Amino acid sequence: MQLTREEERIFDGERGEAPKIAIRLLYSLGELGEAEKLIPVKSAHISGVSYKNVGEGGIQFLKKISHPVSVPTSLNPLGFDINNGGPVEIDEIFRRKQMEIIEIYQKMGVMDSFTCTPYYYYNEPSFGDHISWAESSAIIYVNSIIGARTNRESGPSALAAAVIGKTPDHGLHRDEGRKASVVVNVEQQLDYTRFAALGLFLGPKLNRNIPVVRGQRGAKGVELKAFSAALSATSSIPMFHVDGVTKESSLVSESPEVIYVGKEEIEETIGKNSTQQEPELIAIGCPHLSSEELDYIAGLVKGKKKVGPDLFLFTSREVKAKASDAVKTIENFGGKVFSDTCMVVSPLSNSYRSTGTNSGKATFYLPLKGYGNQRVAFMGIMDLLRWVIA
Ligand code: F3S
Repeated sequence: MQLTREEERIFDGERGEAPKIAIRLLYSLGELGEAEKLIPVKSAHISGVSYKNVGEGGIQFLKKISHPVSVPTSLNPLGFDINNGGPVEIDEIFRRKQMEIIEIYQKMGVMDSFTCTPYYYYNEPSFGDHISWAESSAIIYVNSIIGARTNRESGPSALAAAVIGKTPDHGLHRDEGRKASVVVNVEQQLDYTRFAALGLFLGPKLNRNIPVVRGQRGAKGVELKAFSAALSATSSIPMFHVDGVTKESSLVSESPEVIYVGKEEIEETIGKNSTQQEPELIAIGCPHLSSEELDYIAGLVKGKKKVGPDLFLFTSREVKAKASDAVKTIENFGGKVFSDTCMVVSPLSNSYRSTGTNSGKATFYLPLKGYGNQRVAFMGIMDLLRWVIA
């Protein structure tokens, strides 16, 4: 990979230790990906913010690379809701370490966004923008639905790109890297839950191959968000196309593999992850909810009486403020709406052992030891709300 004179100076440490570490990391990734050069990015998004994921080693790395960022940079959720507390009790060490992480990011000039859907408000890329994003559900969403261009970055590589303002030019930054190599024909028109189930079903089958999904011309944005999160949690796929819906769906390689997904496979995936046993908690908002989703849920619970398990919803601060009427309705019902954090990166297992959710991604992560240690019931919103509406 060729560096410019200025990049070489940074590489040699003339601009300080943090930029040197950052550009060396980008250089190694560029060599691995056979990039020829670094290209400027318009924004970055950093994952690995919760102390639960970052740990002590991560804090030391952050201190080393701490340096003002060169491009607008948003941050993923952390371990608790800073202003309102919750969703579960945490100990003093967790709180202190978490705030230490936030202070390092704040000194670097990173936004206090604390959301995995920064594309709703804080950090909205446009079609064709080169960006460097971490957080698998956001990467696949912005590549596929918005048409921005990012590789599947890790927290450290997105942070390095934020410091330097550049990323290696390979993979998803080039047309060739965005082509579908598998055609997925889906028989029935899918709803939100079934799109999440399709993601859970396809992820392990497709490995790294970008799919183009056919037969889903009526797909809505929130349904594709559910698909994004489930597919990216169960694979390393950075992008998908939906024929007639996403902007680059004509990018298909020559002689792609063709597979068919029927009603049976989708219903079997839902059934495998569901349970009729009442969970201790109903959690909705993985990825973080949009204001339209909050309005929709508010409409379902308005004026109703709450019974049964706790009901937690997760979104960002800005969306929560924008949808304040819906939030009030949900809180009057007896639900709680949290920002800054989420059902996976908060230490949920401090208080709960079983969770009901409509999220394919959470269904994948929550049962894992060290993530949630939860028994999970995966089902649609209407079925979940049946547990809590009298
Ligand atoms: Fe977002 Fe947390 Fe789910 S970061 S995608 S709500 S696991």
